Order: sequence, then structure tokens, then C-alpha cells
Amino acid sequence: MKHLAILVLLYLPVCLAYTLKRAAKEEDTSMDLVRKYLENYYNLEKDVTQFVRRKDSGSVVKKIQEMQKFLGLEVTGKLDSDTLEVVRKPRCGVPDVRNFQTFPGTPKWRKTHLTYRIVNYTTDLPRDAVDSAIKKALKVWEEVTPLTFSRMHEGEADIMISFAVGEHGDFFSFDGPGEILAHAYPPGPGFYGDVHFDDDEKWTEDASGTNLFLVAAHELGHSLGVFHSANKEALMYPLYNSITDLARFCLSQDDVNGIQSLYGPPPASSDDTLVPTESVPPGPETPAMCNPALSFDAVSTLRGEVLFFKDRYFWRRTHWNLEPEFHLISTFWPSLPSSLDAAYEINSKDTVLIFKGTQFWAVRGSEVQAGYPRSIHTLGFPPTIRKIDAAVSDKEKKKTYFFVEDKYWRFDENSQSMDQGFPRLIADDFPGVEPKVDAALQAFGFFYFFSGSSQFEFDPNARMVTHILKSNSWLRC
Ligand SMILES: *[C@@H]1O[C@H](CO)[C@@H](O)[C@H](O)[C@H]1NC(C)=O
Ligand SMILES: [Zn+2]
Ligand SMILES: [Zn+2]
Repeated sequence: MKHLAILVLLYLPVCLAYTLKRAAKEEDTSMDLVRKYLENYYNLEKDVTQFVRRKDSGSVVKKIQEMQKFLGLEVTGKLDSDTLEVVRKPRCGVPDVRNFQTFPGTPKWRKTHLTYRIVNYTTDLPRDAVDSAIKKALKVWEEVTPLTFSRMHEGEADIMISFAVGEHGDFFSFDGPGEILAHAYPPGPGFYGDVHFDDDEKWTEDASGTNLFLVAAHELGHSLGVFHSANKEALMYPLYNSITDLARFCLSQDDVNGIQSLYGPPPASSDDTLVPTESVPPGPETPAMCNPALSFDAVSTLRGEVLFFKDRYFWRRTHWNLEPEFHLISTFWPSLPSSLDAAYEINSKDTVLIFKGTQFWAVRGSEVQAGYPRSIHTLGFPPTIRKIDAAVSDKEKKKTYFFVEDKYWRFDENSQSMDQGFPRLIADDFPGVEPKVDAALQAFGFFYFFSGSSQFEFDPNARMVTHILKSNSWLRC
């Protein structure tokens, strides 16, 4: 569990007891605080910071400058008082490094009518005050786009809104009162699009505490695919700006440009010159450090991250597109073999199944479950099958697809049995995906099939390959 806990630790609050500390100590604490801030929001590499005193601190200074520039401070590269003041300000928990567009696929909803559900409430406010703050926050975006929203009272909505404290089931724990107020996930299935509010804040209708409407409007911007803006006037600026005159709230041009670049203007003004721009998957530019011939053994999601397995290693990448981390499989799961065949996550069980040869293992977080490995034949494969090439589970339909050479099987996660009529030919049902599948992933409503150094983005509704990418495009290559 040790290593999975690292990320969580970075989000712990840093307590400062200034008056009690000597000046030198004070400077150290400030440096730690800023370093954590840069790690959390500016993608500063952790191992760089560990050795920063011994090695040169150039990369930290660069990051401080980047942060000062983004947040509109004087760019000094130093921990001046303005900078220290800003890092203690309440803010959104989503990083400021804006490179989400490099994801394969497009971080936007592929429909204009979306559903939302308020899963639970804060006790700070009456329920109808929460309901109306959320409704008003959605309206902010509705007014400038073709998007419409309707509320659901049960079941799975596109945007699930909840209040939680501390550790709450994702990798991004809340931190008690202050600093992180809320966070939200970009568009997509499952937890994507969801908004979490830190219930250790004091949520208010006016500006006496943390104004729920303002934070909700900002977070819902993320749910729709808009990222942080460096423009201080923008709603999408990462720091919380208390506005006393809420009646006069309005989106800045920067916010409007951001959302309309994804969805276009509202229908009434659709003859305007603003045309929605499709974000395009990563270009052909491949940095030297990324081998264009790279292929993967297996790919799986795990609690909102994506894991890419290769030999004894895996890359781990968070949804916010920070630099991927590189690890030994054995660091997390000492009893697992290397050179895996396939892996997939069953979200409803918080479990990842990992396949090699005729055996499979179930892992939850960093723990391999008792009673494994089991034989793949217990899943219903005939004895002639000695290994699986790839597996991916359709989270909505609760069906898992297993790929073996040129055929595939479909497994029903509800009944825990193979569906009748399989195997079928991959070429018949996934035209264009060839010659064979090494690994597969579901994201943004697409399947991503990895075959050697190529990756096929497959739209299951249109039943066609929509993009062909390099396998390592997810690793920012
Ligand atoms: C609200 O729901 C979220 C998500 O299901 C959960 O993490 C959180 O603990 C719940 N909060 C309360 C106060 O029940
Ligand atoms: Zn934000
Ligand atoms: Zn969360």
C-alpha cells in the first residue's frame, strides 16, 4: 500500500506555525509548502524535489516562474510574500497545467443533453439552497452553449455531484478546511464528469463562507471539459475569488471562448462566426525519449488512472495528464508475474483482473486478493485456450470482451458467465482493428485497441475505427 499512498500524502495539508519557528525553519517550511503546491498543480516531478538541495534547483525556479506567470504574479522565481500568500489561498483541486487536449479522443461530451444528480448534501445549507446553487451554476454554461441539463434523482447521471470529506474513494483526498475546496473530472463515462465538494468548507449562499454557486460553476466548467485559465477575471481561474455582489456575476470572455471552442454557441446565435473546433489527437511529433516502436502487454484502468504494462514495468497515468510515472510491477504487487497478457478493471467491484497464460489474479488497489491465481477456464474458456491477448470491460453494459488471436469472447459481468454465440471473429465486429489485439482500454465512450505500435480508436456505436494513433500517444509522446 505504501506506494499507492504517496500520491495521497501529497494532498495532506501543510500546517504552519509561523510565530513559533525560527527564521531558517520558516524558510524551509515555506519551501515545502510551495514545493507541494508545484507538485500538485504544476506537475513538478517528485523525485526532482527530493534532491533539490543537493542538485541544482533550476527546475524548481522554473516552475515557480511558471506558477507566478499563470496566477498573474510578478515573475521573480523567488518565494516572495505575494507568492506565499497565493499558495495559501483557497482554490480548486484540479492542476493548472493545461495539456488535457493531448489525450486521444476529445475531452468533451458527445451529446448536448446531459443529466446530473445531487447524490448527497452538505449540512451547512438547506437542501433547496444547494439545489438552486447547482441549477444556477449549470445555467451559467447553458446560456452560452447548445448544452441543456436535466436532473435525475436516482441512478447514474452524467454528472454526479457529492459532498465528501478527507479520503473519499478517489486518489485525491480533501484536506480539511481551506486550501482545496472541490474538484471535478473531465467529460467521460463513469466517474468522469463528476463533481466533489469538500464538506469541511463552510458552504454558504452569500459571500460569508465559501460560496457554493461560484465554486459549483467553476467545477462544472471542468465537468464540461474546460480547464484552468490564467486570466484573473475568468471563472476558470484556479483560485477562489469571493465576489460580494453575486447578482452581477457573469462569465468572462475567456470562459465563453473556452466552452464555445468545445460546443459552439447556443442555437439562437449559431449563425455566428464561432465554429466548434474539434480537438485532434496528438500530432506526429515524437520526442526522442519515446520509442515509436513501443507496444504494450496490457492496459487497464485502476481507480481513475490508466496503467500501461510492459515487461516487468508499468507506466501509471492520472486523468489530469500529469507526466506518467514509471514503476516495477513488483513494487506494487510482489506476487504478480512480469510480461502480462491482459488486464481489465471491474469498476463496480473496485477490482482489476490480471491475466498471464492460463491464470488470472484479482487486485484491489495494491493488494492481490486471496484465492488467486485462478484458472481462466473457470471463466468459461475452452481447454484449448492457453492465453488471452487482451481484455476490456464495457463499464455501462457490464460486458467484458476477451481477445484471443483473431477471435473474441464476451463475458457477462452480471451473470458471471460467457455469452452464447462466442467466440466471434474480431474482423466481423470490430472492422479495421488488426492484425491482433495486444491490449485494450475503454475511455470517453471509445475502445482503444493496441496492436504493436499502433492504436485504434474504435467508436462502438458507429462500429468503426475513428482514429489510428501511436500506442504510446497516452504517454505524451
Ligand atoms: C456523499 O457521497 C460521496 C460519493 O458517493 C461519498 O464519498 C461521501 O462520503 C458522501 N457524503 C456523505 C456526507 O454521506
Ligand atoms: Zn478548477
Ligand atoms: Zn474526489
